[in-house]
Amino acid sequence: MGAPLAPPDLSKCNIATSGAPVNNNICCPPYNMTEFIDYDFPHTPLRVRRPVHEVKDDNEYMAKYKEAVRKMKELKSDHPWNFYQQALVHCAYFTGARVHYSWHFLPWHRYYLHFFERILGRLIDDDTFTLPYWNFDVKEGMTIPEIFTSDPNSPLYNENSRNKNHYHPEILDYRYAYICGNPPCGSNKTGDELVQENMSYMQTTFMNSLQLPELFMRGLEGIHNSIHEFVGPTEYPHTDMGNFATAAKDCLFYSLHANVDRLWHLYRNFRGNRVEFNEPDWLDMSFIFYDEHERVVRVKVKDCLTPAKLRYTYEEVPMPWMGSLNVQKTKETRRKQDLNLLRISEFGTQPRELGTTPLRVMVPRPKKNRKKKDKDENVELLQIKDIQVESHGPARFDVFVTAPYRDLAVPDFGEFAGSFVKLPHKLKMEEGNNGVEKHKGKKTSLKLSLTALLEDIEGEDADNLVVTIVPAVGNITIGGIQIKLVQADSPKLVG
Ligand code: C2O
Repeated sequence: MGAPLAPPDLSKCNIATSGAPVNNNICCPPYNMTEFIDYDFPHTPLRVRRPVHEVKDDNEYMAKYKEAVRKMKELKSDHPWNFYQQALVHCAYFTGARVHYSWHFLPWHRYYLHFFERILGRLIDDDTFTLPYWNFDVKEGMTIPEIFTSDPNSPLYNENSRNKNHYHPEILDYRYAYICGNPPCGSNKTGDELVQENMSYMQTTFMNSLQLPELFMRGLEGIHNSIHEFVGPTEYPHTDMGNFATAAKDCLFYSLHANVDRLWHLYRNFRGNRVEFNEPDWLDMSFIFYDEHERVVRVKVKDCLTPAKLRYTYEEVPMPWMGSLNVQKTKETRRKQDLNLLRISEFGTQPRELGTTPLRVMVPRPKKNRKKKDKDENVELLQIKDIQVESHGPARFDVFVTAPYRDLAVPDFGEFAGSFVKLPHKLKMEEGNNGVEKHKGKKTSLKLSLTALLEDIEGEDADNLVVTIVPAVGNITIGGIQIKLVQADSPKLVG
């Protein structure tokens, strides 16, 4: 994640998917990336993005929004502002540069929305126009917004498939994945319980990561991946929203990302706007876009850290998950299941393939009974290392942690610590076998903070922890599982 990265060379086109927006599965950026000017940041009035569930009843706004999208869809098909060309930009960056599963995720998508929004405003001559954000972190926003689904004649509608079973009033599940094993993935709850579950997930994502922005980015990206899957059709290739090559062809995409962007903005505020990674590799990373004045422009990560510089902000709305959240812990964990204690062994030195049953291992901790000062300075991190998955398919597993009695553990997996989520991202036409590609992709790792979790389970004095990996989907191999102490706010984590 922290590896240095040269500016992406997108002058070449990249093969994406059978569902790629245009051009037979090839995602070419719709403009020449080799000639650009540095972006001069706008001085227009501050635009205020509002939640979808609020703007849906603002007829004047809705009329403008639809008008802008309609115009964008009707532009000449090769105009870089054309809606489908815009979608290609996402596809091109996604296939040609690492803007997902990396520390470029939040900045890149921030810029992407910035230019998209300003082009829409330009098309209707309104320099106050903003995209609405899908406020999926509050109850009112926890369903797929109906402005995108209710009217097939609306420019906001997407004629390609989505999972209609998930339309309003079905409640969004932050832990959803296409295929559920046993025990099921997804939170397996409904109604208000699911709303609570989502909110406590959101709270955990913030609380566990205030010392390490990398964890926040990964956590938020994971929730975002699940939402992509929740909207996308269950059938392969999951176009549009369930596949990154095509996701930006659905207007929903931009509202999903506006909220992801807003959550990043909130996170920064909670941290007193401290810079996430004080690293030139991050700060000076540049991207190329096409702006509302029809110019090819270059922008840098360091210039997008405050939305005000891009002349927009977010309307403040309540954050019920933040404060006195009624977190529902599964305390039944500690019922007397002691009769069934299981012996748990260590991971060992060889990589292990996840089967269909949960993998449970004993993992030693570097230090126990840490003092407050130590906890402020160092984060206890669970690392699932060298994760490999088949390169095109979806993959997911959930991680639970509990404290053992010596080398014995209760059957219950304990506290949920986080998930590994990967969307399908690459399909090739030439593949036989239903497009199943056998070779495994690049190794990645999953890092989860244990500090708050250990307080919750009162496990601070344990020498070892029992980590349970519950596979949900995908053929996954894991190289190792470790617990380490790393310095808070250190941008580059080893491994
Ligand atoms: Cu670049 Cu939600 O994806």
